[in-house]
Amino acid sequence: MIRIALIPGDGIGPEVVREGRRVLEAAVSAGLAEVRVEEFPHGADHFLATGETLSEPVFERLRDEFDAILLGAVGDPRVPDNRHARDILLGLRFRLDLYLNFRPARLRLAELSPLKGAAAGTPDIHVFRENTEGFYTGSGGSLRPGTPQEVATSESFATRFGVERIVRAAFEHAREHDRPGVTLADKANAVPHVYGLWRRVFAEVGKEYPDVKSEAAYVDALAMQLVRDPGRFSVIVTENLLGDILSDLLAELAGGVGLAPSANLNPGRHALYEPVHGSAPDIAGTGTANPIATILCVGMLFRDAGLAEAADRIEAAVDESLGQGIRTPDVRGESTTEEVGRWIADRVAAA
Ligand code: NAI
Ligand code: MG
Repeated sequence: MIRIALIPGDGIGPEVVREGRRVLEAAVSAGLAEVRVEEFPHGADHFLATGETLSEPVFERLRDEFDAILLGAVGDPRVPDNRHARDILLGLRFRLDLYLNFRPARLRLAELSPLKGAAAGTPDIHVFRENTEGFYTGSGGSLRPGTPQEVATSESFATRFGVERIVRAAFEHAREHDRPGVTLADKANAVPHVYGLWRRVFAEVGKEYPDVKSEAAYVDALAMQLVRDPGRFSVIVTENLLGDILSDLLAELAGGVGLAPSANLNPGRHALYEPVHGSAPDIAGTGTANPIATILCVGMLFRDAGLAEAADRIEAAVDESLGQGIRTPDVRGESTTEEVGRWIADRVAAA
């Protein structure tokens, strides 16, 4: 029995999570999984109505009573500083120490690539983004705000412990899944302290994995290479900010953010799955949001829970829906969010 907390959140979040849930329940009805699902109202509406972003008791329940969280997206123009989003998403990432942000990017259908002559299956890259350090801790400050003498600082952190655990996770993953190599993305030439530590740890840990090729790359050159020759790369490990940017680039090379799932993990302890995209207020309520990123999150959740068959069926149904043109407008189709969700759910239930 997998205990799953759903946080649909804002904008298109509830629309795509509804379809994710439909597919989840289809897997249950096919006898592939047993789950207990509870939905949480947290998001902008809830915050504006109650003042609560994520209270301590709710945080404790999410921490102690669930095996996985599935989040839609948080972010709403009515909350200009997105305080609720920070408390909910960054709050969970930091407080559950979800240090491993896993973002796979595989082109499922050649015609969805923005690149000429792309072939399905390229890229097929797994990004391991460090999720708790770097520039994202909020450290820094400003002096004399609003004056011509204003000073602002943001500090980036790397700890040996934090770098080592994500680098090791990337090498372990490559070994376990027969992926040929791990590439470190950094900017050690210009930012020597933080990225120097990354380079040293990467070289040290890499020595323990002689069967996995390892290569360190400067992120600017790597961004270029990823567009020119994405097939060269297999696993990329990197720091928080660079991973955020590279994985959006890769999501586009793999057909767009509407198809990109991600997992925030503290392996063996806590897991939060979410599409890479945000709450897309520009299309919320139009029925055009692509639910596939969220549906693939459900697949990842099942795979991590050891339910490979459920995961395989979801992936196969997603590929079929794309292949048959059951697609939302962002991936050049005319179907609605619900039509895509129902189609995939029916396939999963029937398979
Ligand atoms: P976004 O990802 O929400 O939207 C970027 C563009 O992609 C928009 O044109 C949108 O319509 C499109 N798009 C996104 N998801 C789509 C989907 N499933 N199907 C079809 N089209 C899709 O990023 P944006 O506009 O920068 O942020 C909007 C809000 O979301 C902000 O409040 C931001 O803070 C929040 N956000 C939340 C995230 C999260 O909860 N993890 C991640 C990124 C942004
Ligand atoms: Mg992002």
